[in-house]
Amino acid sequence: MKVLLIGSGGREHALAWKIAQSPLLDALYAAPGNPGIADHATLVALNVEDHAAVIAFAKEKAIEFVVIGPEAPLVAGLADDLRAAGIATFGPSKAAAQLEGSKGFTKDLCARYDIPTGAYQRFKSAEPARDYVREQGAPIVIKADGLAAGKGVTVAMTEAEALAAIDECFDGAFGTAGAEVVVEAFLDGEEASFFCLSDGKTALALATAQDHKRVGDGDTGPNTGGMGAYSPAPVMTPAMVERTMKEIIEPTISGMAKDGNPFSGVFFAGLMITAKGPELIEYNVRFGDPECQVLMMRLKSDLLPILYATATGTLDKVQAEWRDDAALTVVLASKGYPGAYDKNTPIAHVPEASAEAKVFHAGTALKDGKLVATGGRVLNVTAFGKDVTEAQARAYALTDRVEWENGFCRRDIGWQAVAREKA
Ligand code: AMP
Ligand code: GLY
Repeated sequence: MKVLLIGSGGREHALAWKIAQSPLLDALYAAPGNPGIADHATLVALNVEDHAAVIAFAKEKAIEFVVIGPEAPLVAGLADDLRAAGIATFGPSKAAAQLEGSKGFTKDLCARYDIPTGAYQRFKSAEPARDYVREQGAPIVIKADGLAAGKGVTVAMTEAEALAAIDECFDGAFGTAGAEVVVEAFLDGEEASFFCLSDGKTALALATAQDHKRVGDGDTGPNTGGMGAYSPAPVMTPAMVERTMKEIIEPTISGMAKDGNPFSGVFFAGLMITAKGPELIEYNVRFGDPECQVLMMRLKSDLLPILYATATGTLDKVQAEWRDDAALTVVLASKGYPGAYDKNTPIAHVPEASAEAKVFHAGTALKDGKLVATGGRVLNVTAFGKDVTEAQARAYALTDRVEWENGFCRRDIGWQAVAREKA
């Protein structure tokens, strides 16, 4: 099979690494890719916003399957256009991608189909939103409706913070993403990410993972795209997975189909495990980054037929097998991230992969033949272990061998799981 992978992050490096191992693969292209992905795929400098150009390239190379990694092209309808051109594509339609593209859309779906989530209201202007916050009190959560690169959410511990967040949204801090605001009840519990494939009818639960969103050790400081992750997430016991499938995923699949927006692709459900059970914080419609890196490390099965079955309505014919080992990834980011940071800082050394560890590239580039950091999140140092404690020790041992002066990382990725394992 000839495959085109869209994207350039650590997630796509992990997908490329795994797809490249498939005996079914004839050729793998990646647009735009990154220097790590170049080890497994031919990089193509396509503008993925130009759907006609992507289709023309796919036709020219006789591409049979396109895998879309990030959310932006999905929300822009790239999957619809590729499918209309007769090319099998992994990723939801533009209409179904609203699950990620509009928080209000998802909250309304939850309300219609009785999916557990925090109580909420949607607002198009500041004054009624402020009134609602004063009525409800803090803690309370303020969210820009649209895609805001993970930055449009304020978990306000005080009313003043909530009111400021409302003003920030309506003052344009998140552009059009903030033109509508969702105000939502604060959910208390432990977070977990849950991944599940669906072809519109059948669901296939994948392994569980936990992300660390805050920039600083001890889960402090501003939110980021994710500073590290591990799998499995012990909070997602088999019983909790079963409840999540029944109470959240299955009603979403049937509800989306009933509403005329059948969902095909991967559900990435952000959950809060509260005293009542799993509640939906949000849906994403693509693999998590860096959660994907630990999932791909643990996946024993061939990824390509699983993704293809998801895209072509035959998910009931495949299964996913997982290694028993834990996997953990540490994100190395540019100093200053998630705020402003220097670009094009030199990375002197990235250690080689071994049987138990691998460094995935995210925001890297080659400049005059030298590896430089071009993004906020730059490298994902990923390792296996018999448990999270061992995976963590191996990942940090390898992290310490990366030579990049402008990089930093959290030193405590996996702390909840390590504490549980020590207990
Ligand atoms: P989101 O972008 O919706 O995943 O939100 C980012 C982060 O904000 C989540 O990972 C949670 O840590 C936090 N968060 C979002 N919604 C809530 C909520 N209703 N209650 C508590 N924390 C929340
Ligand atoms: N790591 C969280 C995300 O991919 O949105």
